[in-house]
Amino acid sequence: MKVISVVNQKGGCGKTITAVNLSAALARSGAKILLIDLDPQAHATFHLRKENRLTITDILESAAPEGDNLSLAQAHVYVSENFFFIPSSIGLAALEHKIAGRQDRLKILSAFLQSYCRQFDYVIIDCAPNLGLITLNALSASQYALIPINLCDFSLRGVEILKNILIMLKDFNGASPVPFYLLTQIDRRSRFAVQFMQKVREQLGSQLLESGIRLNTYLREAASVGKNIFEYNPLSRGAQDFNSLAGEITTIANRQGSWTPLFLKGADFNEVYVAGDFNNWQKEPRFKLNKIAGNLWSINLALEKGRYRYKFVSGDNDWFVDPHNNLVENDPFGGSNSLLVID
Ligand SMILES: Nc1ncnc2c1ncn2[C@@H]1O[C@H](COP(=O)(O)OP(=O)(O)OP(=O)(O)O)[C@@H](O)[C@H]1O
Ligand SMILES: [Mg+2]
Repeated sequence: MKVISVVNQKGGCGKTITAVNLSAALARSGAKILLIDLDPQAHATFHLRKENRLTITDILESAAPEGDNLSLAQAHVYVSENFFFIPSSIGLAALEHKIAGRQDRLKILSAFLQSYCRQFDYVIIDCAPNLGLITLNALSASQYALIPINLCDFSLRGVEILKNILIMLKDFNGASPVPFYLLTQIDRRSRFAVQFMQKVREQLGSQLLESGIRLNTYLREAASVGKNIFEYNPLSRGAQDFNSLAGEITTIANRQGSWTPLFLKGADFNEVYVAGDFNNWQKEPRFKLNKIAGNLWSINLALEKGRYRYKFVSGDNDWFVDPHNNLVENDPFGGSNSLLVID
């Protein structure tokens, strides 16, 4: 079971369109999909025209981690072949306050997924445009965060806030989802858009997916008549783009070993690299961290199973351990290295 949160605190950047059509594309490729609407606005629920006796609100309200509740196991509704769905309701907005005092408040969704949803290949979560407790539940349960960014009004500030949340989760949970960015609503006819895409690519490096979603009226029309793009217009650019995205996501998710996101915050450098056992401790361009904004840096490392020692190294050759990783190991020279264990 791979869990992917489609998340961005900014409204209208294409989260719901992405969650619904990516789910449909993955299901068509033969994977078993569960889509969860985790937004009290219930846009995905409206998009799919699917309602159920149980909504995600009921599930989170009643899901005790150790619970053996049969009705929870049947909480999802059938959409089409390989494609299942859990709808949302406006009550989800109030749930935030109800769970705030619980000790397991960040892990409620994760416990439900682990108990009842392991038969799915992918769980895709359509998040609300905020970073409250419910969205943090989604991120805590996810291996990947798919972050749509609307090219029309791309804001690095928004990306910076989200990165800070991922760092906080890593500090708190010991892990955070691997972030991948997806450009949406791309209009290649605009010269501004093309230049801007280049800038975004420089900024986000390999964390920006190759696939992008072009502006396509059929996507909007499909949503308004309760269909996914493959049912509405399978030959459209929208359908092509979501097929490419599904292919890229499948490759990422099936990669041997694991993706490990590293973050660095609070340091004022011109450039920062990560160097370790995995690259012979070299300061190499492909191990250069992306500067997200101000003093916030990050990189996704693709590593095979194993045990790796590493350090960050600045452009001025200042070597130091990862301040967001508690695992450290002494080195033979009286210093220490950060440690990653991928299993
Ligand atoms: N590639 C696209 N081409 C055309 N229209 C699009 C595209 N992507 C999104 N839209 C339209 O833009 C609007 C916002 O998209 P969507 O609802 O997916 O965003 P969202 O991030 O889920 O919004 P919210 O934050 O409110 O949940 C919708 O009307 C949708 O139909
Ligand atoms: Mg939405």
